[in-house]
Amino acid sequence: MEKFETKSGNLSSSRREFLEKSGSIAVMSLFGLGFFTACSSSDDMDPQQPPQTPPPTSGGSNGITVSGNTVRIDLDVQTGLKTSGAWLLVVDAQTLVVNVNGSYNALTSVCTHTGCDRNWTFGSNKFVCSCHGSEFDTNGNVLKGPANQPLRSFSTSLNNNILTITK
Ligand code: FES
Repeated sequence: MEKFETKSGNLSSSRREFLEKSGSIAVMSLFGLGFFTACSSSDDMDPQQPPQTPPPTSGGSNGITVSGNTVRIDLDVQTGLKTSGAWLLVVDAQTLVVNVNGSYNALTSVCTHTGCDRNWTFGSNKFVCSCHGSEFDTNGNVLKGPANQPLRSFSTSLNNNILTITK
């Protein structure tokens, strides 16, 4: 059976509201399959820290299937992804997904700088590649180098709580 490694994240609503109001640099947490739904400030991680490597998971058991250029995510399993600001890295499919106010954006996780594909953090509506610090918005546009090309975006569709990403 194939294995799909993922990273994901979320901010608690109170923490998110605080960060949105304060304009502070948001910090995201990385973890295996779960999402934070009620984290305290002490639970937040410094986005500059190297992300943790979550344990591999068996295909299907986490609601994620990868078939060719198609990634399907069952949001009834990956319930955390239903929350605005939540994000997910499907390592095996080199795909980032983020919930932006109820819509889903999917991007390649292959950084356009030198190709790191899994050292991502997310906060303040931007993805940070911790290999060399490039930053991208939720549409993949470069906010900060050294990368100078956007992340390729993929089409998404949602049907019966199944998010389908076509690369
Ligand atoms: S590979 Fe991402 S910043 Fe260098």
